[in-house]
Amino acid sequence: MWRMVSGWIYLAAAALVSLAAYLSGAQPAFAGILFALSVLAILLRSGEETQSSRPAVAAESVAAEEVEGTGQVVAAVLNAIDLPVFVLGRDAALRDQNPAAEKAFGALEPGLHISARFRSPGVLDMVRETIATDEPNQIEHSERLPSERVYIVRSSPLHIEGAKEDLFLLSFKDISELRRIDRMRSDFVANASHELRTPLASLRGFIETMQGPARGDPKAQERFLTIMLEQANRMSRLVDDLLSLSRLELKAHLAPDQMVDLVPVIGHVRDSLAPLAAELDVEIRLHMPQEKVEVLGDRDELVQVFENLIENACKYGQEGKTVDVHVRNPGGGSVEVSVIDHGPGIPSEHVPRLTERFYRVSVTDSRSKKGTGLGLAIVKHILTRHRARLIVKSEIDQGTEFTVRF
Ligand SMILES: Nc1ncnc2c1ncn2[C@@H]1O[C@H](COP(=O)(O)OP(=O)(O)OP(=O)(O)O)[C@@H](O)[C@H]1O
Ligand SMILES: [Mg+2]
Repeated sequence: MWRMVSGWIYLAAAALVSLAAYLSGAQPAFAGILFALSVLAILLRSGEETQSSRPAVAAESVAAEEVEGTGQVVAAVLNAIDLPVFVLGRDAALRDQNPAAEKAFGALEPGLHISARFRSPGVLDMVRETIATDEPNQIEHSERLPSERVYIVRSSPLHIEGAKEDLFLLSFKDISELRRIDRMRSDFVANASHELRTPLASLRGFIETMQGPARGDPKAQERFLTIMLEQANRMSRLVDDLLSLSRLELKAHLAPDQMVDLVPVIGHVRDSLAPLAAELDVEIRLHMPQEKVEVLGDRDELVQVFENLIENACKYGQEGKTVDVHVRNPGGGSVEVSVIDHGPGIPSEHVPRLTERFYRVSVTDSRSKKGTGLGLAIVKHILTRHRARLIVKSEIDQGTEFTVRF
């Protein structure tokens, strides 16, 4: 409608210009040509408008909708994945970051150059290279703060057709846990072979002595044989503990399904440790209710747990003279067993590591007490399978309390 009105206005204007030219003394032919040219120009212009302008507007808005749609999908995917991801422009400045990135690296202002957060030349060179070549790259990168973390960092171009600008993704895959497990595995093999090699070397030494210098000395041989038996026992304890750990690992995912009454279990453990307690001059005192205290569990494994906790309390808390075992039903369906000694206590820096395999506060102290350093690792495994927790409280010169909460 407006286009028709404006057409007539143009036509009237062209006629007026031509008339003015004629009146101001121009040749009638010249005024006629001027009029004809004006009309032609108007016709061409409106033709252009009707032919192309409408479809052009439509195409633009479809493309915009599509890009917006793709942008929304990209944003939704970025929000959903738990991998920290940054979206960068060709200037290596931040356009966006997903919640995982915000959690891992803090909220960064859009527009900030990526080097403001990641100063590592490795990461920056890689980003530059990806921007220059449009090829994905990845490197390993570690962050020291706020905690030691190792990442596989990957940069890749993000192709969105019709997008306003070229975008690039920078993603961080945290492999710290994998690294830690790797290190633990190799530490474990190193520790296990070291622990086996020590008694083995001592056995070999005594055998050689008995074949050589001590040949014909029955008194020395007698003494050596006693030590050799002790070393052989130590090796078999170690092998038993290792087997026990690997058996537990195999069934870690199976929760035990029998009801076990802890009162007789702990009574049994006290009886079996009575000789050791007598030898160490320690009294084990039980504080248990009259009635049953039942948990879902595996009886033999629970015996192993309390045997190790009470044995540790006797061995390492020997100077306290008494070990108290409390069985409580604090309500809410939970059951607690605490093993308390009044010995020297454990310095706090050691407490978080006690359940690691072969971890000992004092290796010589533990060895002299025939320890392998696997006891609490086994306890932890059994308790994990029982969905129970081990809580350690210790005060220097006051004693230590190990609590198992079911
Ligand atoms: N009640 C305690 N008081 C002081 N230190 C303790 C106590 N219980 C454990 N520890 C420390 O924790 C370490 C690890 O204990 P764990 O039971 O795992 O190994 P272990 O007793 O040395 O050997 P194992 O139990 O295999 O015979 C011990 O070597 C000891 O240093
Ligand atoms: Mg022990």
